[in-house]
Amino acid sequence: MEQDILILAVESSCDETAAAVVKNGREVLSNIISSQIALHTLYGGVVPEIASRKHIEAIDGVITQALAQAGVTLQEIDAIGVTYGPGLVGALLVGLAEAKALAFATGKPLIGVHHIEGHICANYIEHKDFAPPYMALVVSGGHSHLVFVSDYGKYEILGRTRDDAAGEAYDKVARAIGMGYPGGPKIDAAAKKGNAKAISFPRVYLEEDSYDFSFSGLKSAVLNYVNKQKMMGAPMVPEDIAASFQQAVVEVLVEKTMRAAKEKGVSQIALAGGVASNSALREQMRRACEAEGYFLSIPSPILCTDNAAMIGCAAYYEYLAGVRDGWDLNANPGLKLGER
Ligand code: KG4
Ligand code: ZN
Repeated sequence: MEQDILILAVESSCDETAAAVVKNGREVLSNIISSQIALHTLYGGVVPEIASRKHIEAIDGVITQALAQAGVTLQEIDAIGVTYGPGLVGALLVGLAEAKALAFATGKPLIGVHHIEGHICANYIEHKDFAPPYMALVVSGGHSHLVFVSDYGKYEILGRTRDDAAGEAYDKVARAIGMGYPGGPKIDAAAKKGNAKAISFPRVYLEEDSYDFSFSGLKSAVLNYVNKQKMMGAPMVPEDIAASFQQAVVEVLVEKTMRAAKEKGVSQIALAGGVASNSALREQMRRACEAEGYFLSIPSPILCTDNAAMIGCAAYYEYLAGVRDGWDLNANPGLKLGER
């Protein structure tokens, strides 16, 4: 029997300090997340300096807890995986320095992981038999990417956002209609009580054959609507604004993903990133895939938002491919997918 591979993974690219132990890429033995959301809520968004400081305070405890819950010692770990980009540079550096120190002290290999690759790999944890090729829609607070995954570790970016990321648009619109931070889950909940046809917001498809996204025009349309209603003293129904905005986002995401899958001739679609936990996106993508006979993979909400289990899964496939990083591995806030 082949030997089990145990990865200790660390993630600190934004406002979650996370560590996990993952066995053979897909079995999560522990997944500890210390969230700073409550702290950043005070400021209406993530404050990078505060995020870095809080990561420093939390990281030792989070790793200790991840090992304890998994019931393994540091010596039993085969490799240490860590997010080294993209993200907030100060935040990334905390996890990276910690991972390097652990790898150096124990003599274990160090494997740097791209954060978006981690998000995509969450699908392998959710579905034990899920494998490439497939089309991945990665929608988070910082990214909106349509990625064709032809094989493990092989990514072709077909489209990306030209301005705001999908989650960023959710967060900004939520702030404009007084729903607070983070906006995604608040808009998702409010939209369930609203009418998605109440207000006609633009669907931005860009050029006919483009797989790129643009959400800043939609965000401006919502802000203009809110200002106009205020100036006229007209009533506003936040639930209707939330539902109408959400529908304009989801329709475009679903249409482009389905078109890209057809073009590449794949019959599997995977969602990833924080916005993949959006109930309307999940439901409408499910219906579109059912109509085409496609398999749809969506990670559970806890694996959609930032976590280290997904980083452990990505590190496992990098480990199998022979990737080993040196002590000169640096945090790269603008790291491109597929680059090292
Ligand atoms: O992937 P993630 O945890 O962090 C980044 O790497 O950016 O994504 C966070 C983003 C935030 O913008 C948040 O508002 C959004 O995901 N989000 C949602 C939902 N849950 C989180 N957006 C829409 N609907 C949701 N249910
Ligand atoms: Zn993320």
